[in-house]
Amino acid sequence: MNTSAPTPANAKSTGLEGVVVADTRLSDVDGERGRLIIAGHDVESLATRATFEGVCALLWGRDDAAVRMALGRGRARAWSKRAGLGDALEATDGMEALRAATAHLRSSEFPDDADIAGAVAVFASAWARRREGLAPVAPDERLGHAADLLRMSVGRTPDPARIAGVDAYLVTVSDHGMNASTFAARVVASTASDTVSAIVAALGALKGPLHGGAPGPVLDMLDAIAVPEGAAAWLEGELNAGRRIMGMGHRVYRVRDPRAAVLERALLRLEQAGVSTPRVALARAVEQAAVGVLRARHPTRPLLANVEFYTAVLLDALGFPRALFTPIFAVARTAGWCAHIAEQRATGRLIRPASRYTGAAPPA
Ligand code: COA
Repeated sequence: MNTSAPTPANAKSTGLEGVVVADTRLSDVDGERGRLIIAGHDVESLATRATFEGVCALLWGRDDAAVRMALGRGRARAWSKRAGLGDALEATDGMEALRAATAHLRSSEFPDDADIAGAVAVFASAWARRREGLAPVAPDERLGHAADLLRMSVGRTPDPARIAGVDAYLVTVSDHGMNASTFAARVVASTASDTVSAIVAALGALKGPLHGGAPGPVLDMLDAIAVPEGAAAWLEGELNAGRRIMGMGHRVYRVRDPRAAVLERALLRLEQAGVSTPRVALARAVEQAAVGVLRARHPTRPLLANVEFYTAVLLDALGFPRALFTPIFAVARTAGWCAHIAEQRATGRLIRPASRYTGAAPPA
């Protein structure tokens, strides 16, 4: 099975690396030290004590309880619109379904950030149910977002340990500096377009395997390797075939992505609560082998585990199907996207960079 993305042909171009495009109060990524601050809090502490509504409240500058109510209302509102989504949820790819379904929203009917965040959760889980030939599960406004997301996806009311696991994941990936999808959202917002359009652009960017599309393939990789002893040879084979190892490497981090450790700790808490976490030991062995083979090929460029590596293991342990991993990432990141859209809008400044012309000169 091909579980890795091809190496892009223009790998040498700069990709705007290190270019500052905005001032933000939302999050800060320190790639040298491996530190992530979200709205004034280290991700390590936020992930153990905040809920998804709590991090939304921090990012959106709103009250926790009001956000919880608004998210519940947003989920209910999206549910009532499901008959008007055309064939959006019939797509075989979850992100194509989510992008198409979200594009059906009218900003006038979904004016609040929480409406859109609620809708993304409802559409993602409805798509997953449909894919398995099951009826969608209606949202329950009284539940927290994490609990309802898992409930709508797997059809059972989850236990507190699993709810805490989902919250830890959603909080950990809620925002992350000027990543590609956030930039896409800010570019659209800077044109004074509407929030739904900006979120649809962000969903398109997140879909790619170099950004949010990696966790499903990470699980495929773990399945293909199957036993720790097989890791090095399998990984060498991938690199020899010109493919990248999913879940490894990062544009900004030069040390291990701090979110990998946060998600590993969330897995440990699940284990302690008696929830089975079947792939943790194999994942650790594969990570170690991947670090070794990548170091041998790129001795001067640290290529270490990124957030997607343990996302795959955690979301799997929580019961989400792997096809839903990237849509669940989108559910979480909608919190950050909405905050960035508002922040960008407040600047009132169009993002319009320059390019260097390398084409032919017109005929004399
Ligand atoms: N597997 C194999 N080789 C990798 C690699 C990986 N995961 N990540 C980077 N490399 C290689 C590149 O091909 C490049 O090789 P070259 O110098 O021979 O051309 C070298 O390492 C340096 O890469 P760099 O330019 O620093 O990477 P980047 O900043 O453009 O890429 C990612 C960052 C995340 C896109 C990249 O590491 C990647 O594709 N990772 C796998 C996908 C993934 O996990 N995405 C989730 C990100 S959170």
